[in-house]
Amino acid sequence: MPGSHKLCMIPGPVEFDEAVLAAMAAPATSHVSPNFIETFGSTIELCRKVFLAPNGQPFIIAGSGTLTWDITAANLVEPGENVLVVNTGVFGDWFGECLGVYGANVTHVRAPFGARPSLEEIEKALTAKKYKLITVTHVDTSTSVFVDIKSIAKMVKEKSPDTLIALDGVCSVGAEEIRQEEWGLDVVMTASQKALGTPPGLAIMVVSQRALEVAANRKAEPRTYFGSFKKWLPIMKQYEARKPSYFATPSVQLILALHTSLKQLVDQGMETRFAKHREASKKVKDALEKWGLKLVPHSRDIAANTLSAVYYPDGIKGPELLQKIGAAGVVVAGGLHPEHAAKYFRIGHMNVSAVNEAENGHLDKTLHAIESALKVKRHPSPSL
Ligand SMILES: Cc1ncc(COP(=O)(O)O)c(C=O)c1O
Repeated sequence: MPGSHKLCMIPGPVEFDEAVLAAMAAPATSHVSPNFIETFGSTIELCRKVFLAPNGQPFIIAGSGTLTWDITAANLVEPGENVLVVNTGVFGDWFGECLGVYGANVTHVRAPFGARPSLEEIEKALTAKKYKLITVTHVDTSTSVFVDIKSIAKMVKEKSPDTLIALDGVCSVGAEEIRQEEWGLDVVMTASQKALGTPPGLAIMVVSQRALEVAANRKAEPRTYFGSFKKWLPIMKQYEARKPSYFATPSVQLILALHTSLKQLVDQGMETRFAKHREASKKVKDALEKWGLKLVPHSRDIAANTLSAVYYPDGIKGPELLQKIGAAGVVVAGGLHPEHAAKYFRIGHMNVSAVNEAENGHLDKTLHAIESALKVKRHPSPSL
């Protein structure tokens, strides 16, 4: 597609750094060659630094973010056990659906579109019965609502210490502050194509030793073959020990790219990455609000730093606006929540598009494209 590239400002896949793309272009490489073993081992170590989980167990497996849901559900929940889903959008619905496939008895604690359940509501739901697992979508990409996982994890530790805590960080890891070990998170899940700035195709998660023990002491074998911790744990350990290993072929080129990207994150420092994503988000949201647009999250303090979801202004036809923005060379995403999709659009600002503004000007280009598209003649219908 050379020549046809438009700036990809959707909430994943995001724009890729040149060095990350160059790493993908490696020639055919055996997955047990010494140079690949070294890179894979180092990538596993880098994951611990990005997730701030010095004692966690990383898993890097061919697949997408959704696979991390399956792996969590299949290994950590036995049929009939209770799981509480803190739901702030469709990704909460779908994670719940996935958990149900593995026999979990799922309860959702929900909030209206653009809001999040209060800590008190979550506590009330959690203490109503015994839960094996609580899942939280850190940033639900369908609403851009951000959830305060730190406070939730603290509350869970106090009120129900045996409940495992799983964070869907697909739209947050590498950008929003996450301190997996300090906050006591048992599973943090993500995928390669968002704030980790790598092409899609890797399911990435870091699991606490406590959760691995729970999985190892299950009554029944997990109902998954490809996604079994038992299969992958020795593989991850072998690669980290710089020894060849095989269960299922790893995505060699993607892992080379991920290694390059994670090294960039760690070299820059996670605190700086978090701060730069906050800055980028502020810049975008300040501009949108200055133009009179309304954000989907009910307040700025529950709005994600990784993307902005914003209502179309009255009298503007959504598809036409997106087309105009596209004509200016920038791709943004439409709404995703089934009941509200036609009313809003989403702008991703992650990885190079958030942290390298001085060099690449992605945010300025995007804001300029949106601003000029908004100047199109407004339609009389106020219904959108
Ligand atoms: C919050 C969240 N969870 C899970 C997923 C699923 O990830 P994937 O599309 O990589 O399977 C997404 C995808 O956008 C997401 O935003």
